[in-house]
Amino acid sequence: MQSDQIIETQDGSHSILSHKYGVSYHSKYGAVTESRHVFIEAGLYPKLLTSTEVDILEIGFGTGLNAFMTFIEAEKKQLKIHYEGIEAYPLSPDQYQQLNYAELLKYPEHQKKFLQLHEAAWEEEISLSEHFTIRKVKKLFEQIDKKEKFDVVFFDAFAPSAQPELWEEAVLKKMYDALRKEGILVTYCAKGVVKRRLKALGFTVESLPGPPGKREMTRAIK
Ligand SMILES: C[S@@+](CC[C@H](N)C(=O)[O-])C[C@H]1O[C@@H](n2cnc3c(N)ncnc32)[C@H](O)[C@@H]1O
Repeated sequence: MQSDQIIETQDGSHSILSHKYGVSYHSKYGAVTESRHVFIEAGLYPKLLTSTEVDILEIGFGTGLNAFMTFIEAEKKQLKIHYEGIEAYPLSPDQYQQLNYAELLKYPEHQKKFLQLHEAAWEEEISLSEHFTIRKVKKLFEQIDKKEKFDVVFFDAFAPSAQPELWEEAVLKKMYDALRKEGILVTYCAKGVVKRRLKALGFTVESLPGPPGKREMTRAIK
């Protein structure tokens, strides 16, 4: 099988093109720009208005970009973040070692931390600093069964056109159950059918302006 290839998105940051699904891990208009807009600014920041200690669940860990951006926020703002990244198909060292996020974000001193995110043992809570711990879990999203453990869900699965089964009610319900009351789910996806499913599960659903190249994104509050 052809191996997945590293591509450069429009803001200069890398992404990965999945040959299996025919889509990239991030927006071609900018991986870092999308991550900051959708996950950090629309997902993490609103939670920081009420607490500096936040439990985050990520679907899925992928390149580690969202986790790395969150780590940087935790350092800058002296937060206490507990991050759980779910991923069934991890990148190879050859792939993650090439990713240019630390350099592009102008934190070359954190390149080691970026590599540590990837090298962290599975199913173990690892402390990257006094502000950030991560547990990576190698399993299918369909197998998640957490109850009221998280304040924020970064729902970053491949698009419904590529993996429709991950946007069905059964998986979205797992996200609802995993969140605490007033927990926030954010996703770049703004499809009407996904928003209707989230609403039917009991979320309050908002459409927000999307990152470059996308008119809207979705934020759902439990
Ligand atoms: C859009 S990419 C994630 C991007 C990631 N958040 C990042 O910053 O790089 C989707 C991820 O879901 C993973 N994945 C796909 N299907 C999965 C499944 N059923 N269970 C667990 N992981 C899955 C893929 O391997 C990929 O890493």
